[in-house]
Order: sequence, then structure tokens, then C-alpha cells
Amino acid sequence: MRICVVGTGYVGLVVGTCLADQGFHVTCVDRDKGKIAGLNAGRIPIYEPGLEDILRRVSREDRIEFTTQSRSAMANADVIFIAVGTPPSEDGSADLSAVLTVASEIGENITGPTTVVIKSTVPVGTATKVRAAISAATDHPVNLVSNPEFLKEGAAIADFTHPDRIVVGCDSDEGVRVMQTLYGGLVRTGRPIVFMDNQSAEITKYASNALLATKISFMNELSRLCEAVGADIEAVRMGTGSDSRIGPKFLFAGAGFGGSCFPKDIRALGRMGEEAGVTLEIPGAVERINARQKKLLGEKVLARFGPDLSGKCIAVWGLAFKPRTDDVRESPALVLIRQLLAAGAAVRVTDPEGMDEGRCALHGVSGSIAYVESALDAASGADAAVLVTEWSEFRNPDFAALKRVMRSPILFDGRNVFVPSVVRDAGFEYHGVGRTPPPRA
Ligand SMILES: NC(=O)c1ccc[n+]([C@@H]2O[C@H](COP(=O)([O-])OP(=O)(O)OC[C@H]3O[C@@H](n4cnc5c(N)ncnc54)[C@H](O)[C@@H]3O)[C@@H](O)[C@H]2O)c1
Repeated sequence: MRICVVGTGYVGLVVGTCLADQGFHVTCVDRDKGKIAGLNAGRIPIYEPGLEDILRRVSREDRIEFTTQSRSAMANADVIFIAVGTPPSEDGSADLSAVLTVASEIGENITGPTTVVIKSTVPVGTATKVRAAISAATDHPVNLVSNPEFLKEGAAIADFTHPDRIVVGCDSDEGVRVMQTLYGGLVRTGRPIVFMDNQSAEITKYASNALLATKISFMNELSRLCEAVGADIEAVRMGTGSDSRIGPKFLFAGAGFGGSCFPKDIRALGRMGEEAGVTLEIPGAVERINARQKKLLGEKVLARFGPDLSGKCIAVWGLAFKPRTDDVRESPALVLIRQLLAAGAAVRVTDPEGMDEGRCALHGVSGSIAYVESALDAASGADAAVLVTEWSEFRNPDFAALKRVMRSPILFDGRNVFVPSVVRDAGFEYHGVGRTPPPRA
């Protein structure tokens, strides 16, 4: 089978590379000429652990190519994946313009029966719209498959190649057969391909992200209660997460969630409810809690030092929205840095992979920001250090060295990665999220 993947971003590039690694021939298409030129010159536009090795191997074996020419790529494909972005519109709904543009191009360019797979995260009813856009331009039969992607940035290769499940929404036997062939190599260990109708597949993606985001926001909300009454959210997490009905994952209180998916998908789910005349209460609550939580670290710093941070220098550890990615979209670190700068602080920031993206995202923001190479460098001369992204590089600092370089030994732990007593014993003032405050002097 010849595969065409349209959209060569975090999802499209991983999907294309991993399918090429499964032995298929893949053509990756993107309208971004710079990205395609870079890929053809061997430059990978994103940081994703493990991706580079596989990409180099499948490129050497001529199983993957990159182009801006959708016409020939689509004309020659048996299967076309749509993996373009679906960013939020003004009203919070998913912007389908890129998806529908690609659908029209598919209609114009296919030369025979084709399976079209929607990988992008799209609201319920999109498969019908995509089918209509394709059929408006061609009489060739099309199997339309809704196949949402569940990979996590930072672990995308493992998630794609060892999925918990693969969700396939489809109403044709041929579509089912094609997807079984495509994914056969990935489900040999018994993980299921869950077949369903297109609408249910579309909702399943939003349901999964919304449930995960809800767990996080619920714990973040409880962390405020813990702080107010002198309880420890970490103990509460251990106590609840060990219940097998609840599970230990996504229960960490912290600086709020970011990234390209949870925030926009929560918003889009709320809009989907409104459009269907069904009021969904939870997505709005999750979004509000998260927006408030992203301001928490800045508020803690301001509460500690007062509203005017002129003359203060604050170290920020982390720009990426989570470890093992360079993606800073909707990252809590950006909210914190803006708060600090607005209050007059100088900021020294570091991130193992997210510096370029962070610099772009903060371009034009006024104030003093220094981008430096290490956590220790960031802390040099700082009045406090704030951990926002829990990179392993930040988890075990040399506290003695840190204390020597900082102006005052104050640590804000935005992900509760440190043991408070260890930090305090090292001579630091410690501020976590929802953790028992130190006894008053
Ligand atoms: N990033 C994730 O972790 C993740 C996980 C699961 C699902 N998703 C979903 O997958 C989709 C893609 O996400 P992403 O993070 O890869 O986005 P991205 O922004 O990284 O990449 C999208 C790519 O599509 C290209 N593109 C846009 N319009 C195009 C067009 N008309 N023709 C050709 N190329 C076009 C862009 O140039 C870009 O390279 C979204 O719907 C997202 O919600 C993302």
C-alpha cells in the first residue's frame, strides 16, 4: 500500500515515519516549504525522542519522501491520512479550514478508489463534511475512516507503535480491511483495534482528552483546598491513586496543563455540546480551573515578594509545556514569565529543548529575559528559582552549589518534584503546590 500523509507536524511526521518503519511507502506532504526543504536536507523540525533514528533509517531505505506537491502524492496513494492542525477558532470550536481544504484537494487529485483517514482531532460530524467535500470533486469511491491519534509528545514513537488501543470509526468493510492491514503489525500483542461508527470515534478522542484534563484540574482544585487547611495534596494523591478504580496517572497537582491538545480540545468539546443543544458543564469548569492554575506560580512569587518585583531576578526552569518535548504551546511557563515581567522582575530562563520555541513565543514581550544554558546558570544571582517543567535535568540540583550562586535560597516547586524536607534541610525556603506549609516561626 502506498500512503500519503498530509500535514507533517508532531502527528503527521510521527505517523508517517512509523508507518514507513512498518514497511509501507510513505509520502509526507506539507504546505510549509521551509519545513519540507529542511526535512529533505535531513533537518527534523521537532524534538521527539527516538524519531531521528527511525527517520534516518527509513530515509536510507527510500521508504519515506517529503514534498509540497499534494497532487502527485495523492494521485499515487491507496491511503491518504489527514493530519493537519485543527486550532481553536474565536468561539472555541475547532477550526476545520485546513482539514476541509485538504479534503477538497483529495477530491481533485485522486485517480481511483482511496481510503481517507482523518487523524486530526475533529468535532463530531466532520467525517460527513469531509466526505461531502471530497465527493463534490470526484466520483471515485472513498472509504472514510475516523482514526483519532492518542500519542503523547515526548513518548510519541512508543505510543504509536505500542498503543493501548487503536480507535477506528468506519462504515465500510473495505475501510476495516485497510485499517487492519495498516495496523496489523502494531496490535500483534493483543491490543485492540476498537471499531465503531465515525461519530463515536470522533467523540472518543475528545472524551479521552477531557477525562485526562479533568483528573488534572480536579487535583489542582483540591490542591487549593489542601493549602487552605494545611493538608498535603501529595498524600491525597497517593491515597486516592492507589485505588485501582481511579489509577495513579494524571493526578499530579501543579502549574496547570498546556500543550496543543488539552486546552483546545476541552474548549471544542464545550462548543460541540452547545451546537448540539446539550449543555456540558465539565469542560468549562476544567478550562476555568486550569486558566486559574496557570497563574498560581506567579501569584505565589508575588505573594512572597510583594507586587513590585523591580530589582528582583527570578530563575525559571522550563519553557516546554511538559518534559521531553520542545513544544511550548499554551505552556504555563509562558504565563508565569509574563506575570514576572509585568511586575518588573528580570527573568533568567532555561529549558533543555524548548529554548528556540520559547524565544519565538515570547518575542515582543517587553522586559528583561535572559535565555541561559542550565538550571544553575539561571539561578545565578536570582532571588528565587521556579520549577515549571519537570525535566529530569531539574529534579536533582546540587543544592549547595545552587545556594552559593543565588541571592536568596528560595525555591518554588511548580510540579511537586522535590521532597520538601530535603530542600529545607539544604537551607532553602520551599513553596510547593498544595503541600503542607512550613510551621510558622
Ligand atoms: N500534537 C499532539 O500531541 C497531538 C496528539 C494527538 C492528536 N493531535 C491532533 O493532530 C492534529 C495535528 O496536530 P499537530 O500537533 O501535528 O499539528 P502541527 O501544527 O504540529 O502540524 C500541522 C501541520 O499541518 C500543515 N498544514 C496545515 N494546513 C495544511 C494544508 N492545507 N496542506 C498541507 N499541510 C498543511 C502545517 O504546515 C503543519 O506542518 C491536530 O488536530 C491535533 O489536535 C495532536
